[in-house]
Amino acid sequence: MSRMFAKDFLWGVATSAFQIEGAWNEDGKGESNWDRWGHTPGKIRGGGNADVAIDHYHRWREDVETMRQLGLSAYRFSIAWSRVQPDGRGALNPKGVAFYGHLIDALLAAGIEPFATLCHYDIPQALEDLGGWTNREMCDWFAEYAAAMARKYGDRVTRWMTINEPICIADGHYGDTIEPPGLGDPQAGAQASHHLLLGHAKALLAIKAAGGSQHQIGLVCNLYPIQPYQGGTPGEREGAAARVNVGAGAEGAETFSDDDMARAVQLADMHINRRWLDPIYCGSYPQGLWESVAHWPTVCAGDMEIIGTRPDFMGANYYHRFVVRPARREGKLTYATVSPKELGVPYTAFGWEIYPQGLYELLMRLKSDYDDPVIYLTENGMAMEDRVSPGSMIHDDYRIDFLQRHFEQAASCIAQGVKLRGYFVWTLQDSFEWEAGWGHRFGLVYVDYGTLRRTVKDSGWWYRDWIAAQRGA
Ligand code: FCB
Repeated sequence: MSRMFAKDFLWGVATSAFQIEGAWNEDGKGESNWDRWGHTPGKIRGGGNADVAIDHYHRWREDVETMRQLGLSAYRFSIAWSRVQPDGRGALNPKGVAFYGHLIDALLAAGIEPFATLCHYDIPQALEDLGGWTNREMCDWFAEYAAAMARKYGDRVTRWMTINEPICIADGHYGDTIEPPGLGDPQAGAQASHHLLLGHAKALLAIKAAGGSQHQIGLVCNLYPIQPYQGGTPGEREGAAARVNVGAGAEGAETFSDDDMARAVQLADMHINRRWLDPIYCGSYPQGLWESVAHWPTVCAGDMEIIGTRPDFMGANYYHRFVVRPARREGKLTYATVSPKELGVPYTAFGWEIYPQGLYELLMRLKSDYDDPVIYLTENGMAMEDRVSPGSMIHDDYRIDFLQRHFEQAASCIAQGVKLRGYFVWTLQDSFEWEAGWGHRFGLVYVDYGTLRRTVKDSGWWYRDWIAAQRGA
């Protein structure tokens, strides 16, 4: 393996509390919105829940030891707000606070830098009952919790991520019905979008105020290159147009122009990427964003100035690109995504296209459009149907190939001057995959869900060797 990265480049893995911890009601932990969702029949594919998850709450020592064996230099985890502050406001739960304190100490002792995410989807149910992110007060509750965490752990943790993937919270939890509380209300989704950005910025300022300027803070967004659907040959293009027409359904056959295609790409980019990045880095929402969804959040005087506080770094989760085509909904031009299956391109067991080049395209774009930020690749990885071979080996060559090809793209970006400082593979162990339940294995470590026994996959050992080679060890 050749060395492609600086010796001090950070190599890590990412996890999130709800997906791994379990112990959902132990040691004073409060109920979270995701606990409630998991206990509501019909919400999780396959009917499972994360009450035990992979029992990281009791097995964290073993998990840190595995990370040490892999030679990781950083670990991105999330704090379950409901564990440290059961009602989301008021008194902290000492046992919950102690849990993360011990974890952080063990990481540091193993030479692994902790990167803490404050909200990776799960919030205390008590706050969800008050409207969650649709309630403007949530921004201040979140900032107070962030400050409390900085006071507890700020002597040992200096890199913080405020919120993970605000688009999933705004659109999936409030705009849609797939995640808690499943409001299915696009107006609530638009309002939550704004509050998530405001809450992020208020938390950033609160951590700095509580903990001093050594803290490095960023928001984590799932970002995607957006590309127009293009059949390779004129015949295929016609085929695509025909499919678009079929999709137009009740509104009848319709042919879309090249301008419509360009507009579809623009809309998708605005909704998916620019909705989050423009307010933070350019001070305003993209022009026409709210008109295009016909829902307008209430934005108070001064909000945009707060949101425009420049973070210390940008957290980017990269999994795949989106290929889009124009579509019409309720008489308005919009976009629809074209699945990898329809495109005839390789994809993972999760249905996501394997497109390493997209990482290069994305990072180069972030550099040029957002004033050359320091970036951490906060998630990247793949789910496949891993098989256990005799001798308890998991030969996941596909995952090794996936990671290596993405690492190479990252190296090319750095060679072009992108300030990429670290790479977190999603994820350490197979774990609970939200509403998709237990069916998808993303880990470098295989987990037998019956016994909870962990076995490092070939990709895990390969990652160890890769890291060692990059460090020049
Ligand atoms: C991301 C989430 C993470 C995990 C991966 C597969 O969107 O941040 O928790 O579910 O996808």
